[in-house]
Amino acid sequence: MNCEEIIKKMNRDEKIALLTGKDSWHTVSLDRLGIPSIAVSDGPHGLRKIGTDANGKEFTYKATCFPTASAMSATWNTELVRKVGEAIGEECGAMDVDVILGPGTNIKRTPLCGRNFEYFSEDPYLAGEMSAAFIDGVQSRNVGTSLKHFAANNQEYDRFQINADIDIRTLREIYLKPFEIAVRKAKPWTVMCAYNRLNGIYCSENKFLLNDILREEWGFDGIVVSDWGAVHDRAKSLLASLELEMPFSAKSADNLKKALDAGVITENEIDNAVRKLLDFIFKAIESRKKRTKSYDTSEHHRLAKEAALEAITLLKNDEGILPINSKKVRKIAVIGRLAQEPAIQGEGSSHVEANLTDKPLDKILELAGNDIEVEYQPAYHTWDTGIGGLNKAMDAAMNSQMAVVFVGNRRGVEGEGFDRQSIRLSREMEDVILRIAECNPNTVVVVQAGSAIDMSSWIGRVKAVVFTWFAGQAAGSAIADILFGVSNPCGKIAETFPCSLEDTPAYGTYPGNGYVSRYAEGIMVGYRYYDTYKKDVLFPFGHGLSYTSFEYGDLK
Ligand code: GLC
Repeated sequence: MNCEEIIKKMNRDEKIALLTGKDSWHTVSLDRLGIPSIAVSDGPHGLRKIGTDANGKEFTYKATCFPTASAMSATWNTELVRKVGEAIGEECGAMDVDVILGPGTNIKRTPLCGRNFEYFSEDPYLAGEMSAAFIDGVQSRNVGTSLKHFAANNQEYDRFQINADIDIRTLREIYLKPFEIAVRKAKPWTVMCAYNRLNGIYCSENKFLLNDILREEWGFDGIVVSDWGAVHDRAKSLLASLELEMPFSAKSADNLKKALDAGVITENEIDNAVRKLLDFIFKAIESRKKRTKSYDTSEHHRLAKEAALEAITLLKNDEGILPINSKKVRKIAVIGRLAQEPAIQGEGSSHVEANLTDKPLDKILELAGNDIEVEYQPAYHTWDTGIGGLNKAMDAAMNSQMAVVFVGNRRGVEGEGFDRQSIRLSREMEDVILRIAECNPNTVVVVQAGSAIDMSSWIGRVKAVVFTWFAGQAAGSAIADILFGVSNPCGKIAETFPCSLEDTPAYGTYPGNGYVSRYAEGIMVGYRYYDTYKKDVLFPFGHGLSYTSFEYGDLK
């Protein structure tokens, strides 16, 4: 049967049922009509498929945890992003997932946003190209994507109702642009609407956004799915061209029936949404036949390491102190619990249960071999290492030719549902860096975080800084390879690192007054702001060093 024949056979209740999810991760199936259920799962930097065990307890299936979006954009390598998309698509196919809920491509308006690690850049063009490459990769494996969160979801604070008040030029040139590039170039199967309001109207009910811009201007022909719980009035969202409400909502069927009876919506408008949904469902069914049902876990781990190596960014390397050279050092002190328990991703719906996790310390010991002695001290958290923890770390640093301090944003600092309060490291970690730098002039700091960090209180006291981003499950071995020069660092930051939060363009307007977040800075986001107003920054957009020395001459 084709879609039209099915629609003719569907009764009103069946049509209405299809417009809302069956549960958290599936669309409704209508066996009488041969309409199967479609499965969706989170991403975006790896598959987070939720299962239920024999006792009804939820668990997450293991998958490859790739570097998160902010790391991937630091590679500036769309080919590599496409390959990661292909790998994630293969893992979805093997786990019977039809759509992965990613990529996230919201612009980084403020470095405080808790989900910046999930987003690509402050620059719309780079964010759009990276998103398109990821979508191409996943969909080349006959699995769908969900480009999110459409649109202007640039803070987690108050995300369910904050009104992003944005002038039309800024909206189009900055906040919509990455979505436009990705929709036009890569044709995602779905677009996920955001929770927040945009210029006074919830994105889930915003016809200007979901129909006029997305469909009529950009030619989007897929379906719009709501963010989970983003629909307030199902009839209004239907009229705005939102086809699929997720997850299941008990009140929506009644809402739609009442709206139909009241003439607020028509049978024809319901049929239009059902038609698009059936197209999507049957596209997914057709695609299932073309998918591979297995993938090579070790190859995906290798790819995760390749991506981490290209993402890790050398921010500072005075006197060429790196790479570690056994001719120059006989002993190094490795300081900080994150050398054993690396921060490889952020919190929230994107959190992947990694197949495995390389530990930096293990790989450092491997590369040091018998040439270099390594002393490890966990250091920073006194509750964790006892009062003497820091002293032991300082002693180790004093008795070594180099100290490598591992710091970063551990669990609970960057994640969904909350923003950072500061863009500095914790006071304890800053304190450890300064103490260790006092004990050893050859101090190297390895920072594991998903977004810009204000390093101004300590960076002048250390010789080198390696910024790893949240670089996924292979981060540990990639960090060690770069520290020892097995690989040459080549990452370039895709977001400005400001000297302080007060210097950022949204400072003072973010997070808004609890109802409206006025984007008063307009198009002056990221480098557009710092360049225009000649503001100093800690590290500019595009900054990243390598171990290569360059010479050129006889220029014509
Ligand atoms: C969450 C997130 C979205 C995620 C969805 C399903 O609220 O905003 O990114 O894909 O719900 O978990």
